[in-house]
Amino acid sequence: MFKKSRNKKQSQSNLDQQELDLHNIPKHVAIIMDGNGRWAKQRKLPRIKGHYQGMQTVKKITKEASNLGIEYLTLYAFSTENWTRPENEVKYIMSLPVNFLKTFLPELIEKNVKVETIGFIDDLPQSTVKAINKAKEETKHNTGLKLIFAMNYGGRAEIVDGVKSLYRRLEANELSIDDVDEDVLSSHFMTQPYPDPELLIRTSGEQRISNFLIWQLSYSEFIFNEKLWPDFDSEELLKCLKIYQNRQRRFGGL
Ligand code: IPE
Ligand code: IPE
Ligand code: MG
Repeated sequence: MFKKSRNKKQSQSNLDQQELDLHNIPKHVAIIMDGNGRWAKQRKLPRIKGHYQGMQTVKKITKEASNLGIEYLTLYAFSTENWTRPENEVKYIMSLPVNFLKTFLPELIEKNVKVETIGFIDDLPQSTVKAINKAKEETKHNTGLKLIFAMNYGGRAEIVDGVKSLYRRLEANELSIDDVDEDVLSSHFMTQPYPDPELLIRTSGEQRISNFLIWQLSYSEFIFNEKLWPDFDSEELLKCLKIYQNRQRRFGGL
């Protein structure tokens, strides 16, 4: 093991040599799973094939996260803006939880993983909601990794929704305006039960947050990984965790 200076760019071989510090695994890792369409395009396949392959990556990464002792894994699966995509693509993505959970639920149960969601789930097609609810129900007593799918999720919509429910409580005199602080406001967000992510990973080389957890990522470390999501694997996840472990988090202090 060797220490590196904060600003030093890490070469691949440095990272390979470095051991993962199992005492410094982020509790909460959030991932923007991007690049499914480009993966398919590279292979002259329809975009939906990329989404299918992306689902296989979700399985691999969930297992790895569980093995590593990550406590919360939030995966951005469908944004409030993704409805603008062609109808057949949206329809296919909506069928994925049904397919995914049919084949993967027994393994999730065996691994003690608890399935949860953030996002406007009730606006999804009925069959999608049913599959998600079944997975939540069957894993609700599990105490291991919390696997949180962000489905029909948007950070701005979440804040608007949270502000509305806060306002309703103020109006009902359950709360006074002077009680409102950051914790009170964020307790009205969908992510209320979870700590903020220490680490955000976005695959496919894009460097933006696309309306994901815009409040919660205030002090997260961002890692932009070049792999397209279907090509992302355990090795890449480990690489990201090592890069994270070499970051110095300061939270505005010195
Ligand atoms: C991410 O892959 C999955 C979803 C947004 C549902 P994309 O479908 O955005 O893939 P690219 O960005 O077009 O390659
Ligand atoms: C973000 O990816 C949403 C998900 C991964 C679900 P997009 O592909 O939709 O984001 P933009 O359009 O590139 O910002
Ligand atoms: Mg994309």
